[in-house]
Amino acid sequence: MTKIEISDGVFWVGAVDWDVRNFHGFSYTTHRGTSYNAYLIVDEKIALVDTVYKPFSDEMFDRIREIVDPSRIDYVVMNHVETDHSSSLTEVMKAAPRAKVLGTARCKAGLEKHYFCKMDFQTVKTGDELRLGRKTLMFIEAPMLHWPDSMFTYVKEEGLLLPNDAFGQHLASSGRFDDQVDSHVLMEEAAKYYANILLPLSPLVKKKIDEIVGMKIPIKTIAPSHGVIWRKDPMKIVEAYLRWSTGATEKRVVIAYDTMWGSTERMARAILEGISSEGVDARLYRLPYSDTSDIIGELLNSRGLLVGSSTINNGILPTLAPLLTDLRGLKPKGRLAAAFGSYGWMGGATEEIEAALREAGMEIAMPAMKVNWVPTEEELKQCVSFGREFARKL
Ligand code: FEO
Repeated sequence: MTKIEISDGVFWVGAVDWDVRNFHGFSYTTHRGTSYNAYLIVDEKIALVDTVYKPFSDEMFDRIREIVDPSRIDYVVMNHVETDHSSSLTEVMKAAPRAKVLGTARCKAGLEKHYFCKMDFQTVKTGDELRLGRKTLMFIEAPMLHWPDSMFTYVKEEGLLLPNDAFGQHLASSGRFDDQVDSHVLMEEAAKYYANILLPLSPLVKKKIDEIVGMKIPIKTIAPSHGVIWRKDPMKIVEAYLRWSTGATEKRVVIAYDTMWGSTERMARAILEGISSEGVDARLYRLPYSDTSDIIGELLNSRGLLVGSSTINNGILPTLAPLLTDLRGLKPKGRLAAAFGSYGWMGGATEEIEAALREAGMEIAMPAMKVNWVPTEEELKQCVSFGREFARKL
């Protein structure tokens, strides 16, 4: 295996998972796979920062062995408890029996409740430092980015920030760095990651970035725990996070819908025509053919959301439910929304959609567009006008 040195004496010892297609219990589709990044810092003392998802632990150990005997590891820094980063910890502790584990107090509690193991654990707080020889690790607690235990590790002499999940992307690639992958794909995956994982935590993201900027620590490289390492332009992702965390959006509309016999689909297309006639970009996603986490990713930069459904049993088609559940949880505030849909003898779908959109913290920009049975030419014109009016409100 080729050694991958990302900075002087700091090696990537992670694994690329080309096959994974879902995360967090199918709530996040990972069309492009992911990587589990762990980093080995070799100095007078040796530290491993994070581990990998257990099915990939052999690969991590092979990479470590290329550099040092794993038994020589002195410290294992655990930035985060979640299984994709911690489930090789027990293997590491067997291979490096004298290693001390470092993390936040919540990390200790979380690891104990996950792995039921005894550890030589040292609790660290923001500003605490660990000297390895020529290199110094500094710890920065980052609670709720995205778990209560989360922490960043900063390698002072290298200007290297290891922020675990923050600034990551679910992107498998042969290159390990931002300048080795397509930049559009990279930003698309980074945005989808932010939207599906960090969006409801945006005020904390902004606060943490402001705190780190206030610390005036030079940052030359940002090496997250998923995807590629930001070395060409690390500020690009920091600036994107600042934009996303402050809810900055573009004049664009996401239209998500499902249809029973085609009426709601015809409405969706007429609404899209109205939006485009105002010079506003709109994108149509039919569920379940489109994926909810992709739609959420698209919504990150979009100011408007329209959700449509035919009525069934006085409510929405069940295919819309995962999207509405995600919206309720992720709370994409600061966006305008409205509902539309067809019905037969009783309505109900648009009311259910509006309730969910309100619960998601979105502003209902206008009353729902409803059509009984099949839309007439006149009703389709009304849908075009509905789209036009919605676009003007953005
Ligand atoms: Fe929160 Fe990549 O785990």
